[in-house]
Formats: sequence, structure tokens, C-alpha cells
Amino acid sequence: MTNSEQQDLLVFERRESAVRSYCRAFPKMFDRAVNATIYGADGKEYTDFLAGCASLNYGHNDPDMKQALVDFISRDGIAHGLDMHTNAKRDFLETFHEKILAPRNMDYRMMFTGPTGANAVEAGLKLARKVTGRTNVISFTNGFHGMTLGALATTGNAGKRGGAGMELSGVHRAPFDGYFGDNVDTAEQLDILLSDSSAGIDAPAAILVEAVQGEGGLNVASKEWMQKMQAIAKKHGALFIVDDIQAGCGRTGTFFSFEEMGIEPDIITMAKSLSGMGLPFAVTLFKPELDIWKPGEHNGTFRGNNHAFITAKVAIDKFWSDDQFQAEIQEKSDYLEQRLQSIADKYGFGLKGRGMMMGIDCEDGDAASDICEHAFENDVIVETSGSDDEIVKILAPLTIEKETFAKGLDVIETAFDCTLVDKNQRSAAE
Ligand SMILES: Cc1ncc(COP(=O)(O)O)c(C=O)c1O
Repeated sequence: MTNSEQQDLLVFERRESAVRSYCRAFPKMFDRAVNATIYGADGKEYTDFLAGCASLNYGHNDPDMKQALVDFISRDGIAHGLDMHTNAKRDFLETFHEKILAPRNMDYRMMFTGPTGANAVEAGLKLARKVTGRTNVISFTNGFHGMTLGALATTGNAGKRGGAGMELSGVHRAPFDGYFGDNVDTAEQLDILLSDSSAGIDAPAAILVEAVQGEGGLNVASKEWMQKMQAIAKKHGALFIVDDIQAGCGRTGTFFSFEEMGIEPDIITMAKSLSGMGLPFAVTLFKPELDIWKPGEHNGTFRGNNHAFITAKVAIDKFWSDDQFQAEIQEKSDYLEQRLQSIADKYGFGLKGRGMMMGIDCEDGDAASDICEHAFENDVIVETSGSDDEIVKILAPLTIEKETFAKGLDVIETAFDCTLVDKNQRSAAE
């Protein structure tokens, strides 16, 4: 970093809270971004393998979303309308129903919550507790559901939980699929525990799960396990909630991460890429019969971002009107898997995740961080995931150009080679 760049970043050091995080891994002033490329203020190009933590599945500044938003703003379209009826909201509701829900035979009500994923999770938890009259929620080891107190209570990570400053209650943590290895059926275990009135677990209001654990290490739930979890929820009078905030909107290959699992969650949470353009926007979907909210019972000033209604509708029309985008994701996922597998094989590491949500388990957080640092020095933005940040996680925009993708993965491969060879040489020398 040049002296003038360092000077430029001083304001963040002096004026912004110490809570900032991503900017520490990527100490650079960024300015513009197009699809999978982010440009530094100095014009330097970076390939984005982080994609706003899966908020930019359709890349940065998609030209059609951008144009629609510019047109909407230019004609004084309503930017903020509380939860009043607007043309933008109507169009989004109709499009989401027609192109996402109806073709999948899904009948859900949409609740516009505050604009973050955590808001959608809070609403889902609150509704499940209200419907069942129960408090306890089952969530899973390594699960991540957000940083507000209710969502944080369902989150596994000790560091994040520690920030609460108070007791986090109302949650029982169960082992995720595969937590004890392939031979232990953690769904069966949970069923046994919930069936035993002396096992010490209060009857649950909900079972809350991610189909692929985004922050918790790209752990993948199998179709069978998800089906069992849904059945267990039903058997024990709980609602089945799938948090699709990170794994949804095409990230795993289909619009919803669980589409090919033959399940029908009672509640689904969505945020991140739903707006299509990185605008704050979240929804909680639930079966119509669960809609027992009283008007205004779960309120908020920023529910239903009209700018996001505009861009989200374009995203759905453009990418989900037919199967073409899904086929492209499949092709890119296959390519990603093949490239990552060959790197992983070289070092005896395992592959994690599925679809365009994959990574390599380096079994060591320091090594994974060194690899990401090396990649950044070579103009690729990539982050870690997992209990000890041991997974190098690739979250490229689903729209990434093939050549950019290939070049970025070359940088990742070199980062592994340089970092691990260096490490090995160092340990041999010690
Ligand atoms: C699965 C999942 N749920 C909830 C959240 C929280 O979303 P937000 O950060 O927008 O509050 C995240 C964020 O990473 C997530 O990955």
C-alpha cells in the first residue's frame, strides 16, 4: 500500500468503530464495481469471490436492474412508503408469485420485515412461538442466523454469541447433519430426545435450519436428513423453518436451496440476494394458515424497500423466467467443483458445500487466512468460513464471466501452492 493510500484509510481508523471487519482483511479504498469486478479508487481491478457474502448473486450493478432503478427514481417513484400499497410492491408480489412460487407449487404469504436477514429470522421465530404457544427453538451446531438477540440465540458461533452481553435463551442446540461423522444419524437422535419427556428438552416451537451452512463451514444437509427434520418437526408439533438467506436465490443451483429435497417448510427466510442488486431487503414467507399476525403486531419503519421491489422484480424476470440461468449455474458449479477438487487433492484436503457455494477445508484457520491474504495480494477478494475460519470459501457472483472465473481460480490455486509450500518449507526448516 502506498503512503497516500494509507493516509486515505486513516479516517476509518480514527472515525469508524472498531467493530468493522471485512475492511481489515481487504484494506483498500474501493470505488466502483461491475458484475464480478470491483475497482479500487486507484482503478486497480479485483475479482470478487465474496459477492457481498452472497448478496450479489447477480453481480454488481446489473445493467437492467440499474436502468430500472434509475428510471424509477427519475420519475419520482416512491422511495419510502412504510408498508403502504405501491405499484412497485404490487408488481414485485405478482412477479414473485407468478415466476417463483406458482411454478414450484408453493403457496406462501409474504411478510416484509426490516431489511436484514436477521430481521427475517426474528419474524419467523416470533411467528413460530406465537402460533405454537411454545418458547423453545431447535437450532443446529454451526448454524448462523444473524446478530440480533433472538437470531443470535439460534447462532452457534461462540465469538458472535459472546457479543450479546446477556443470556441468550429459548434455544436448544442439536447436532447438524454429519456433526458426529457419517455413521451417526443426528435426526434420529433428535427424534429420540424429543420423544422422551425426561430428556430435558422443552417441546419446540420450531426447528430452524440452513440447507447449506454458509457461515458455519459449508456443511451440507442431505435430502434425507432434511426430510426427517421436517417430519420430526411435524411429529412434535413444531414448525419447520428453513433459513435460505445465504443459500437461496440460486446460490446452490435452484432458486430455493431445498427445492430438490421434496420438503415444504412452514416458514422460509430470505434476504441477501433477494433484491438482486445488493439493496437491503428481506422477507419471511409462511404458509397462509400461519398468518395469525394482528395488524402492526410486528412493525418497523423500513419494511419493504420500494427501490428493492423494482430491482428484485427485474432479477426474477431476467433470471428466473425460464431454466437457462439454472443451467448456467450448474455448468459453473461443475467447473468450480472440478477446479477446487484438483487443488484439494493436491493437499489431501476435503471439499465443502454445494453449487456455487463451495470451498476447501484447510483444517487450519491460519493457513486458510494466509491463503485468502495471498489471493488478495493478487487481486482476488475471498473469505474464510467455519468454526475456526478453516474453510476457503468461494462465493463468486453466479453471473461471473467464465474467463474471470477461471483467472480468479488460478489465483486461488497459486495462493494454495505458495502459502502451503511456504508453510511446509518453514516446518521442514524448523
Ligand atoms: C443463513 C443466514 N441467516 C441469516 C443471516 C443474517 O443476515 P443479515 O446479516 O442480513 O442480518 C445470514 C448472514 O450471513 C445468514 O448467512
